[in-house]
Amino acid sequence: MSRRFFVGGNFKMNGSCDSLKAIVENLNNADLDPQTEVVVAPPTLYICNVRDHIKSGGKANLAVAAQNCYSASSGAYTGEISAQQLKDVEVNWAIIGHSERRTLFGDTDDLIAKKVEACLAEKIKVIFCVGETLEQREAGKTLEVVEKQLAAVGEKVKDWSDIVVAYEPVWAIGTGKVATADQAQEVHKAIREWLGKNLSSQTAEATRIIYGGSVTAANCKDIGSRPDVDGFLVGGASLKPEFVQIVNANK
Ligand code: G3P
Repeated sequence: MSRRFFVGGNFKMNGSCDSLKAIVENLNNADLDPQTEVVVAPPTLYICNVRDHIKSGGKANLAVAAQNCYSASSGAYTGEISAQQLKDVEVNWAIIGHSERRTLFGDTDDLIAKKVEACLAEKIKVIFCVGETLEQREAGKTLEVVEKQLAAVGEKVKDWSDIVVAYEPVWAIGTGKVATADQAQEVHKAIREWLGKNLSSQTAEATRIIYGGSVTAANCKDIGSRPDVDGFLVGGASLKPEFVQIVNANK
């Protein structure tokens, strides 16, 4: 089975009305590989504006994602948004479990699993992030950590057809220290094996596993050429014109 290449742009807490308008216009006018699925995640404040201006139909296959959402559908959760509200504004993707949510905002494996469940219940597709810290990698615990993160969701969710798994080694995020293609392939292969062992061979074969962590136009083709790398989740470079080259890495 060939898995559709997937590239996500995580803008994080960056952008303004003007700068995001320019990014969207650049993407709308770019010659994007129609075989690649592209999702961009602006800050929550700008989601509906970006949704209204991206060229989601036709040749360019662009969609908008939220960078996070809460596990409850509504209630006294100041500052949060829900999967139900994302559905309400016709946003069909959410990034869940990003390492910055885990380290800066205390998202636990259990809360992340509940958030994934809440998204899937509303038919919101999920970019589910996993990855180890440098300390965990240096202690030889990379696979142990990643498999624990996968298992937390696997215990609650058996149908992963609307999940894209993003392997984002924390030590590569925003550091310029990109994982080597071999390092990425090794963990992606282990993730696929975990999916096959704990869910089904069909899930393992069909699930896109994308790499994130200092991806640039210069390194994307090498990493993207590996058999278990199905695309990227891009931070800093998604705000730059070179994001088009990363989207087209599989061309
Ligand atoms: O979610 C993608 C992000 O964590 C990677 O950031 O800036 O290293 O591409 P960056």
